[in-house]
Amino acid sequence: MNRIKGPFIINLKNYTEISGQKAIEITKEAEKVAMDLDLRIIVSPPQVLLGLVASKTNLEILGQHTDFEKIGASTGFVIPEMIKGAGGIGSIINHSEHPLNRTIIKKLIERLKELDLISLVCAKNLEELKLISELQPDFVAIEPPELIGTKRSISSEKPSLIKESFEHLSSTNSKTKLICGAGINTSEDVRVALDLGSNGILAASSIVKADNWYNKIYELAKPF
Ligand code: G3P
Repeated sequence: MNRIKGPFIINLKNYTEISGQKAIEITKEAEKVAMDLDLRIIVSPPQVLLGLVASKTNLEILGQHTDFEKIGASTGFVIPEMIKGAGGIGSIINHSEHPLNRTIIKKLIERLKELDLISLVCAKNLEELKLISELQPDFVAIEPPELIGTKRSISSEKPSLIKESFEHLSSTNSKTKLICGAGINTSEDVRVALDLGSNGILAASSIVKADNWYNKIYELAKPF
């Protein structure tokens, strides 16, 4: 679905609140919000559920990680070709919970591009964002690890990091789009992030752990 606003990316991580069929249920709530607000929402389910979720939704589905391993005899790895075959549109890579070295990041961005898949590369700080943007992924997500999973957001604790990331990408005429995340809990967090130049947000715990998934997703989606 080609929507202009966003993306608002929901990383389901490996929270038990969304295990099995529940990953479909939360994705269906996200789908309703996407329709109601005409917003591009992308869901990143646990790797083992990617194909299942992709087969049940019209939202775009992103891997949480992908491995630079060979086609064929690479038991247990999740390679980009399998993400594509399962209905995914690409993958998050180098999340601070699953870091990769620069050589692998570079090779993965190239391989994803060749497969017409999207690369969303996470960066822990401005220095890493600068290095990653040189590799020209589709998206770079700035996420300070110490704020991930907390109630303190990048928008309230480190707004200058969003601003400087945006300024760096603009001043280098980068085609890479900026996403930000870590501790995004409120509508105000999203509004500030967008005002400071972020194209989208990446959020996990505040949504997955909410009592009402639709309401929380709607609240965070509203500022777009
Ligand atoms: O990938 C999203 C992320 O790491 C942010 O997590 O729980 O702080 O929204 P959270």
